Amino acid sequence: MMNTFTSPGRSGLLRHVITLVMILLLFSVSRLGAQTPEAEKNFQQCKACHNIEGPKLVGPNLAGVTQRHTQEWLIRFIRNSQEMIQAGDPEAVKLWEENNRIPMPPHNLTDEQIIDILKYIDNGGKVAPEYLAADQTDEAKAAQAALAAQIAAEQEARQIRLQEIERDANRNFGTTFFISLIVLLLALFDLFVTKVVKARFVHITMSLVAVFIIIEITYKEATALGRQQYYQPTQPVWFSHKVHAEQNQIDCKYCHTGVDYGKQAGIPNAGLCMNCHNVVRQGKITGTEEIAKVIKAWETGQPIEWVRVHNLPDHVYFNHAQHVNAGKLDCAECHGKVETMHEVMQVNSLSMGWCLDCHRTREVQFANNGFYETYAKLHEQFKNGQIRKVTPDMVGGGECMKCHY
Ligand code: HEC
Ligand code: HEC
Ligand code: HEC
Ligand code: HEC
Ligand code: HEC
Ligand code: HEC
Repeated sequence: MMNTFTSPGRSGLLRHVITLVMILLLFSVSRLGAQTPEAEKNFQQCKACHNIEGPKLVGPNLAGVTQRHTQEWLIRFIRNSQEMIQAGDPEAVKLWEENNRIPMPPHNLTDEQIIDILKYIDNGGKVAPEYLAADQTDEAKAAQAALAAQIAAEQEARQIRLQEIERDANRNFGTTFFISLIVLLLALFDLFVTKVVKARFVHITMSLVAVFIIIEITYKEATALGRQQYYQPTQPVWFSHKVHAEQNQIDCKYCHTGVDYGKQAGIPNAGLCMNCHNVVRQGKITGTEEIAKVIKAWETGQPIEWVRVHNLPDHVYFNHAQHVNAGKLDCAECHGKVETMHEVMQVNSLSMGWCLDCHRTREVQFANNGFYETYAKLHEQFKNGQIRKVTPDMVGGGECMKCHY
């Protein structure tokens, strides 16, 4: 039975019309989008690693790249080269080997944006003339002012929040401490001097309660002394995680290379920064000023003296590989959303209670994890269904000696 709607004549005509419309659309899109200032802007994130012509940077020069590969291949590769390399695409694997296996970060760009960038590259890194007349400098200035205002607002909001937290804590502790002290003095004074209350147990209970509270508060204040929740020092270079990890999508592990196999995550040296800042010499927010400090550090060999944000006491042992590689934890579970911070802040207390809370509740990726092959008995129980989940404290994460030297 044939459906009247799809009679061959009609659908054939429809197909032609649709094809025509699509060609027209494509044509207009590609004309509208060609080498626009947007392409120049998007190419900023490539400039860190690619020249179009001139000396080779981290990645190959891009002049003539559209002749070396098909457009479809380029779109996939630029969006996520690692995916193609892992899938074994021969062209991609060859490039990866030729470039000392340096990964290119994935890019969150649409097909149109990538095609636009490719045209911009073909045009030798120039914006098409019809767009040059547009008033770019005003636009850039407005963007800069908006960003600066946003940062100021963020900072102010945070400052207020911190002050509130601190004030509340101090006020509560301070008032309780003060009241307890008065109660204690009153009780003692009455017991020995005024003798208004005859029953002695009243004095004794009141004194004991007051002394208990005073000791408790003193203890809490003393143990919190070394802790620095919400600590956010000013760094010698205005290095922004938001600019690098969020806006430019650079992977945390590109800079913190120790996390998978080491105790320390590690802070990169200026040499790694220069992979990109050899070329990127100006930032949208701080202009040339801050990047100049990085270049100077590299040229003089004088390391940048970053201020440590997270600090455990010396008697505690903490290992990143254990948590990130074996434990498969995300950085954000302990450090918060660093990629949204211009300046890093310690968001968790790093107290012993904080470590143990997670160790008692968090499920360990136990099944198929080579790290735990030695725990034969637990595996047995896990398989039998005697236990449903394994938490770190069941595999030693609650023993004093695992965390303390
Ligand atoms: C962190 C450095 C880095 C950034 C940023 C980067 N690339 Fe790459 N790119 C590389 C490396 C390294 C290679 C070589 C292939 C590999 O190692 O995976 C490469 C290869 C390429 C290739 C293939 C070149 C050839 O000769 O065949 C193209 C095209 C390309 N990149 C385009 C881009 C574009 C477009 C951007 C920006 C949207 C960009 N890249 C951003 C590092 C980078
Ligand atoms: C381009 C390099 C780079 C990238 C990418 C990067 N970082 Fe950093 N990170 C640094 C530098 C440099 C510092 C030291 C300066 C500072 O504290 O801001 C740092 C500091 C930190 C600190 C504070 C260390 C301390 O002193 O206690 C944490 C936590 C951190 N990064 C986490 C992350 C996470 C999570 C990501 C991914 C979302 C990331 N970083 C991506 C370079 C980088
Ligand atoms: C993979 C490339 C890459 C690496 C590695 C890198 N940066 Fe950047 N950096 C960029 C890009 C891209 C920008 C943004 C420029 C802009 O604002 O358009 C930038 C901007 C900056 C800025 C200026 C921010 C602004 O907007 O004013 C500073 C300062 C900076 N980086 C410092 C560093 C330091 C320090 C390191 C090493 C720890 C580092 N960068 C490593 C690519 C990189
Ligand atoms: C967000 C959850 C979480 C937090 C917070 C956390 N841990 Fe862990 N920890 C884990 C997990 C999950 C494992 C098991 C990892 C694995 O598979 O080996 C683990 C394992 C460990 C181990 C190894 C135990 C063993 O089996 O030998 C030590 C030591 C450790 N953690 C120390 C610490 C210290 C010190 C802190 C606090 C500064 C801390 N951890 C905070 C989740 C956490
Ligand atoms: C289980 C919690 C936890 C996880 C997950 C975690 N960290 Fe940490 N990180 C810490 C603690 C605790 C410290 C302080 C260590 C110390 O003082 O010895 C720290 C310190 C750091 C430091 C500064 C000192 C150093 O070790 O070089 C950097 C940088 C850092 N972390 C980056 C990262 C990155 C990037 C990730 C994700 C790949 C990550 N961390 C995942 C808890 C964690
Ligand atoms: C999961 C890791 C972990 C385990 C297990 C652990 N601790 Fe701790 N411990 C810490 C951390 C982190 C600190 C630092 C707390 C701080 O700075 O407030 C600490 C601090 C301490 C302190 C100093 C007092 C204080 O609060 O700062 C003592 C005493 C202590 N631990 C004893 C023990 C004993 C006893 C055990 C075994 C029952 C134990 N710990 C097990 C992580 C651990």
